[in-house]
Amino acid sequence: MTGRPIPGPRPSTTLGPVLDVRDVTLRFGGLTSLDGVSLRQDRGSVLAVIGPNGAGKTSLFNCLTGAYRPQRGSARFWPADDGVELVGRSPHRVARLGVARTFQNIRLFPEMSAVENVQVGVEVRARPGALRGLLPTRAVRREERETLDRCHELLDFVGLGHRAERPAAALAYGEQRRLEIARALGTSPSLLLLDEPAAGATAAERTDLVTLIHAIAGRGISVLLIEHDIRLVAAVARAIVVLNFGRVIAAGRPDEVRADPAVVEAYLGEPDERRDGP
Ligand SMILES: Nc1ncnc2c1ncn2[C@@H]1O[C@H](COP(=O)(O)OP(=O)(O)OP(=O)(O)O)[C@@H](O)[C@H]1O
Ligand SMILES: [Mg+2]
Repeated sequence: MTGRPIPGPRPSTTLGPVLDVRDVTLRFGGLTSLDGVSLRQDRGSVLAVIGPNGAGKTSLFNCLTGAYRPQRGSARFWPADDGVELVGRSPHRVARLGVARTFQNIRLFPEMSAVENVQVGVEVRARPGALRGLLPTRAVRREERETLDRCHELLDFVGLGHRAERPAAALAYGEQRRLEIARALGTSPSLLLLDEPAAGATAAERTDLVTLIHAIAGRGISVLLIEHDIRLVAAVARAIVVLNFGRVIAAGRPDEVRADPAVVEAYLGEPDERRDGP
């Protein structure tokens, strides 16, 4: 552990929901990966999703981002005042609506530089027009310069400004995770889904990650966070949802959830999960 204190959660500014998931059920043949999952997230908040391995956390993200289509349920998302349904939309459309994600297994373009990886994110949200790039007008060139500036600004924001020209594959593991966050932020999301961003991170990197998540929330971006490290979760999230075998078994403040017998049982009932437990 480093001696640096981990700052507590920021006060919430409740302006209604950013996400309202209802009764999402996902099956793969005979296996029910999500079983009537409902949760609600306040705009601008950090909400954590925890649960033992195989609980359905990543499946939930996949349902929200168009990678999987659940058999039942809805996920309403408010990019602004008007809500939209996420279930059934393509991953590209979901991204354009303002939901970005990182992956449990890092997905970067390994040969491309850090800044080029972020550019990929920015282009997901770019205005359409196949001919734009073929016409190097002053306006197009200015737009390209602005995009590049924005990519560098995002790299600075996640603490990777000095690594901009490095190929992604040459970055340390923790740096690659932060690069994924920068790429996701490049799409200008209003909701950011982080799937185990601290996996494999050192204690110092975890502390930096807490600071980074606070900074992201400080920009008004809501964060839905899958994370096993309950200390990190308690430092950033004011609310936690616990999944086990595809069901929500508890929800509430970190202290309430940790004391919940169903949560203790979910973690301690499975000897392999003990090291991950709350
Ligand atoms: N594409 C798929 N095909 C078949 N089964 C799947 C698929 N995706 C997920 N599952 C199953 O759904 C269940 C939930 O998996 P999921 O990856 O969502 O769990 P998780 O909570 O993210 O676990 P971990 O903490 O290990 O990442 C598991 O039993 C998994 O094997
Ligand atoms: Mg997972």
